[in-house]
Amino acid sequence: MQPFHTIIEPFRIKSVEALNFTTRDQREDALRRADHNVFKLHAGDVLVDLLTDSGTGAMSSAQWGALIQGDESYAGSRSFYRFENAVRELTGFKHIIPTHQGRAAERILFHTILHPGQIVPNNNHFDTTRANIEVEEAEALDLVIDEGRHPAVIHPFKGNMDVAALEALLARDAARVPLVMVTVTNNSGGGQPVSIANLRAVRRVCDRYGKPFFLDACRFAENAWFIKQREDGYAATSPRDIAREMFGLADGCTMSAKKDGLANIGGFLAMNSDDWAERCRNLLILTEGFPTYGGLAGYDLEAIARGLEEVVEEPYLKYRIRSTEYLAEKVSAAGVPIIQPAGGHAVYIDARAMLPHIPPLRYPGIALVNALYREGGIRGVEIGTVMFGLHPDGTERAGDMDLVRLAIPRRVYTQSHIDYVAEVVISVSKMRERLRGYRITSPPKPLRHFTAAFEPLQA
Ligand code: F0G
Repeated sequence: MQPFHTIIEPFRIKSVEALNFTTRDQREDALRRADHNVFKLHAGDVLVDLLTDSGTGAMSSAQWGALIQGDESYAGSRSFYRFENAVRELTGFKHIIPTHQGRAAERILFHTILHPGQIVPNNNHFDTTRANIEVEEAEALDLVIDEGRHPAVIHPFKGNMDVAALEALLARDAARVPLVMVTVTNNSGGGQPVSIANLRAVRRVCDRYGKPFFLDACRFAENAWFIKQREDGYAATSPRDIAREMFGLADGCTMSAKKDGLANIGGFLAMNSDDWAERCRNLLILTEGFPTYGGLAGYDLEAIARGLEEVVEEPYLKYRIRSTEYLAEKVSAAGVPIIQPAGGHAVYIDARAMLPHIPPLRYPGIALVNALYREGGIRGVEIGTVMFGLHPDGTERAGDMDLVRLAIPRRVYTQSHIDYVAEVVISVSKMRERLRGYRITSPPKPLRHFTAAFEPLQA
């Protein structure tokens, strides 16, 4: 046992970027220019950017050092083999296909294997995953356990798949299900982890019906850390070994290296099936690049290879998960309703519970996101009715939840930044009755949250 309890950032800072402080009036203006959609803000007008944890992590000096070793050969680059080794060591999968980011891996996989009318179950599909399935005219079905649908309910593995529901789907409709997916951690459900026991149970069902099982592995290391903390029998296992066990239960994965690859860009598709891999590589060549670079520079492959090693280090994961929990504890103690327990990469505020006077189709999540920016220069993101409420047939309904996600970039902000964020969230919460809803003034489009124009409603 160490005698001291303070969990410190497990790094020192070698290079810094100045923040730009703005006034409330300047932010009002910026919001207006952005059609009240924070995706359209200039990032320079944001003080603490919690829009995403994707691609925004700080690379280590070892990663920057690796960049210069990038081999930019078109075919057979040394950096590819280093990357392939790192991914194979970790995942054990036979075929490793680099892509420029996670959604490219999704598109290549789904466009290769899906047919109209098929169904892809997942705990919760992320927005790009859902969109890449729906564009193939297949159905993206969310089968997270019931606890995962209730923000205030505490459960150690709220990202778990409802295995009985999966079994029922396959018993009824196996012919329409080409593969089963599980997202670790479950981003759309609050960054909640999935247990090894649950992954094993999904594996057994997949075996019974002869279905391939893929992980959406973006945050596999955070998931491994939760398993180490919460699942019986894993306290003494290293996060790396837990991650290997997770991958060992699957037949393949899609991955955005912009999250637990600790890289600014990149991703991969990995699998054991020779047939699927060959077909995926053919499409890869058409749209991403030759199979030994897949849309990435050699130096990106180097950064990812190194990032995948650093991300499973215990001091990093301990600090990472604790810093998210720290923000969750602070705002929750002040009465702000959040998804409990804290997710791995983000705190999710329950905007529907916080703003009961704003109905879902008046977008309480957007009201809160915009207030956080206006009052404190913080950028979060709505994960709710705007992101998920528009159906492929053009109709709109309330999302399952209206959440605002404050995603924490990896190794970027210090504890005092997070203290500031908590102060702003609590202060906005105190003015909650004064917040108003919005309406959308732009035509409906897939993934409308990126581009929609909003207009504030009057009191
Ligand atoms: N799957 C999950 C679970 C994700 O969270 C993301 C991206 C993707 C797939 C797609 O990866 O961005 O590299 O194409 N999530 C980011 C976020 C954008 O903010 O949560 P990508």
